[in-house]
This record gives sequence, structure tokens and C-alpha cells, in this order.
Amino acid sequence: MNIVMNRYDFPTLDEFLDHYDIKPIEGFCQQMGRQVEILKHYASQPEITNIMEIGFNCGHSAEVFLKAKPENNVHSFSIIRNNLRFGKRYLDYNYPDRLNIVIGESEWSIPNYIKRNPDKKFDLIFIDGAHWEPIPKLDLENCKKLAHENTIVLFDDTCYSDSLKRYWNEYPTKVWSDALEKNEVIEEGREDFDKGRGMSWGKYVFGCNT
Ligand SMILES: C[S@@+](CC[C@H](N)C(=O)[O-])C[C@H]1O[C@@H](n2cnc3c(N)ncnc32)[C@H](O)[C@@H]1O
Repeated sequence: MNIVMNRYDFPTLDEFLDHYDIKPIEGFCQQMGRQVEILKHYASQPEITNIMEIGFNCGHSAEVFLKAKPENNVHSFSIIRNNLRFGKRYLDYNYPDRLNIVIGESEWSIPNYIKRNPDKKFDLIFIDGAHWEPIPKLDLENCKKLAHENTIVLFDDTCYSDSLKRYWNEYPTKVWSDALEKNEVIEEGREDFDKGRGMSWGKYVFGCNT
């Protein structure tokens, strides 16, 4: 299908996707108003401009980051699905030269990226890719090499309340809780948004040898 568009026809990514009848395969942040508020809050801070995410899906989180302020750029690490090209096309058109997508499974693509860019650091890292064992743990560990001491790391799919948590929250919640217990991260916040939906966030702890 050819993608034809005029920027003024589609004020939001959602309207563009609706027009082409593109459905996100998985959940995405813009379904949760409170999650968008938190992502936007951080992405609006003047000291945060280099943003990285794992998990593009249709580009809804990338849109929140790019919209938050004109200085922001986004590096997204994601596997490729057909819906990705629609989101990328829309965002490239509306936010030219500010989005870079590294295609591949994060467990491989991030270590490779670090080898090629040993000095690269991001100010905000949103981890929202595969949610099954062992990938979120690898993502959290690998992303530390792309963080500086003030980097905000937002870890999706945690959920703590018995009534809201679902089976897919178990592993991400355990990974974040273990990292807290081992003092690998310091938590700045956690919220359960809805059934099966939540996020925890904070900063990495850097010791003398890290
Ligand atoms: C929950 S969705 C991301 C939603 C997006 N962050 C948003 O809020 O708009 C998770 C996405 O991660 C990507 N993904 C799944 N497994 C992955 C892996 N091993 N490495 C990188 N990306 C992966 C897929 O594109 C999938 O749609």
C-alpha cells in the first residue's frame, strides 16, 4: 500500500493510523493517559534531549517524546513489523531528522550498538520491548551502559496490586524489584495504571567499578 499524506490532514499519529486502518498489535502508552503524563513530564525537562526506547510498535511513545519539545531526538530499538513503517513514515514527516530506528531484537542490537558507539549516552531510556524472560532483565542491564548518572530509566509493564496485575506483569515486576533490592537502581516512582498495565522508573546506581 502506498502511503500518501499531507501533514495537515493528520494532526496525530492515531488519526493517521486510523486512516490507513493500521492497528497496533500490542498495547501502547497512549492508551494510558497517566503514563503519557509521566513520559511527557520527563521528556519536557530541558536537560533531557537524547531519548532512547526499546519497542516501537506503531510509534506512539516516540510521538510523545518528539512532541514534548523540539530539541528531543529519539533512538528506537525494535523488531520490525508491518505497522512500523506507517508510524515511522508519519513521524519522519512531522518531526524530520529526529527519529532513528535500529531494527533487531534488543538483546542483540543493543550490545552491538554499544560496541559501535562506546561513548553514547541517553538522558531518558524507556524499556518497553519484549516482556518475557529473560529479555527485560537483559534490556535493563544492557541499557546501563547507555546511561549516565542522571539518566531516567522507565521500565514498562510492572504492576504491584493484586487486583490489577496479570500474568505478563510477573516477570518485569520481578526484574525491577530485584534490581531495587540489589541497589542497582534507585526508584523515583511506580504506578499501576489499569488491569495489566503499570510502570516503574528511576535511575541507575553507578558504583566505583561501573
Ligand atoms: C508494548 S509494544 C511497544 C509500545 C510502544 N513503546 C508505545 O508505547 O507506543 C512492544 C513492542 O516491542 C517490540 N519488540 C518485541 N520484542 C522485541 C525485542 N526482542 N527487541 C526489540 N523490540 C521488540 C515490538 O515492536 C512490540 O510491538
